[in-house]
Amino acid sequence: MDTRNWLMAALMLLSACATPQTSDQAAQIADGRAVAEAQCASCHAIGEYGDSPAPEAPVFRTILARYDAEALEQNLIEGILVSHPMPEFQFNPQGADALIAYLRSIQTTETAPPVPER
Ligand code: HEC
Repeated sequence: MDTRNWLMAALMLLSACATPQTSDQAAQIADGRAVAEAQCASCHAIGEYGDSPAPEAPVFRTILARYDAEALEQNLIEGILVSHPMPEFQFNPQGADALIAYLRSIQTTETAPPVPER
């Protein structure tokens, strides 16, 4: 390898290292996962795979394709009922932020199932 190629390789390595989440984000995502486990996992599949314990409850890995993240966050903070079969939640902004960060982190590109007829 001549110097130029070596430099290119070093640059590529550096930029690969620059992308990972900061530890703050990682901690927030972990908090969000804990919230989801405690509050949502009895009905929703909250992880990267698996079916929801409540068959009508959409899996979390595609949920943001059905429900806008900003709207969800607001509704969770304001205690607005997200959906009828669900209990009412009232999160503080940090809790809601963490939950949304977690949801964003697990979204897959797998096509979301169609929204069922109500
Ligand atoms: C008691 C069971 C239950 C719990 C607990 C629960 N959900 Fe749900 N959730 C459901 C069901 C059932 C649906 C599907 C409702 C429908 O299709 O109308 C749903 C739908 C949703 C939707 C999509 C709404 C839509 O209009 O598509 C979101 C977003 C959601 N839940 C978020 C959450 C979050 C976040 C939590 C935890 C903080 C949670 N749910 C806890 C049962 C639950």
